[in-house]
Amino acid sequence: MFDVDLIRRDFPILRKGVTYLDNAASSLTPEQVVLKEMEFYREYRANVERGVHRFSQRASEEYEAAHEHVADFIGAPSAENVAMMRNTTEGLNLVANSLDLRKGEKIVTTVIEHHSNFITWLRVARKHGCTVEVVRSDVEGKFDMGDFEKVVDDSTRLVAVTRVSNVLGCIVPVKEVAAIAHEHGALVVEDGAQGVPHLRTDVLDSGVDFLAFSGHKMLGPTGSGGLYISKEELYQTAPLCIGGGTIADVSIDDYELAAPPLRFEAGTPAIAQVIGLGEACRYLERVGMEAVEGWDAKLAKRLAEGLNEIEDVEVYGPIDPKARIGIVSFNVGDLNPHDVALSLDADYDIAVRSGHHCALPLMKELFSLPEGTVRASTYLYNTVDEVERLLGAVEDISRG
Ligand SMILES: Cc1ncc(COP(=O)(O)O)c(C=O)c1O
Repeated sequence: MFDVDLIRRDFPILRKGVTYLDNAASSLTPEQVVLKEMEFYREYRANVERGVHRFSQRASEEYEAAHEHVADFIGAPSAENVAMMRNTTEGLNLVANSLDLRKGEKIVTTVIEHHSNFITWLRVARKHGCTVEVVRSDVEGKFDMGDFEKVVDDSTRLVAVTRVSNVLGCIVPVKEVAAIAHEHGALVVEDGAQGVPHLRTDVLDSGVDFLAFSGHKMLGPTGSGGLYISKEELYQTAPLCIGGGTIADVSIDDYELAAPPLRFEAGTPAIAQVIGLGEACRYLERVGMEAVEGWDAKLAKRLAEGLNEIEDVEVYGPIDPKARIGIVSFNVGDLNPHDVALSLDADYDIAVRSGHHCALPLMKELFSLPEGTVRASTYLYNTVDEVERLLGAVEDISRG
């Protein structure tokens, strides 16, 4: 049974009196994850995959176990399919740098992407004389699958798409996009920064070749994240960096890379953070992602509908609550979104995000909003009361 009061006890930071609704930027961390990280420093702090002494052995075991927890969490067939990254951005860049693009080939992405899943492709395409085609959605973030069918062709090497927009909160049918891409032999990379924390993830079901995600948005430590690489692409994908920890053998004039995932994790990794991310996945598994989704849907519905009912407030993103998660962008009259966010913090103890949310193409092409929006985003520890508090505060602000 999902019990938000019980969950809140695991997050001592919530006792600081702040209503934290900035989860799309970064989530809070439960005590279990903090303790797991501290255990590393207090009990067995050592490097991994290098030493024979007991601390190093234990650190390596915990580090490997974390890979398994993360792999289980996203439905990956094995721990070798999950390379630990610093964040989503690093995972996407790894994929981009690994592509052996040929002049004239095409990358397809969408207008609602975060810059990390957008400029990465612009840069690599320019470097190789390739093009990037951008599929547009409507203002609610809904796509016509026919548009993907028109744009994706046999010259398409890769389709990069997010599961959830970090501005509109809309859910994108990645599985359908992947099917279209695969018909033409193109690879598919999913930006899971917002999807993985909030929605059950099954990489085998969605059929994507790569999935990048951030630990810090899913109860894990900052500096942790992952990149899922499918079985087929595991040995075709080039590491972003190589060096210590990534090799099976080195001679005076050659080297052989280690098996995945170590070949992708050059140098001493963020050991405590990776172990913490494994614990975050275990935490979410214990709560159950169906329960997380259900709670999220309840909060998202009230948040979007409540904001929509306030005179002078414009809400962006889907009206249909089933089409969105608890990320709701809005503006209050012609107030600058940063001023609204500052007032929510200073006068009402509510933390939200404001600005363009690293999604300038969306802001410019769909809405013409140079200052961006205010964005409130929920997670499993938020309550209906907190949503009501935000709605009351926004109503106050809108009345001046
Ligand atoms: C949809 C999306 N993609 C990518 C990112 C980048 O995540 P990170 O900064 O953890 O690399 C974010 C961060 O907000 C995001 O929301």
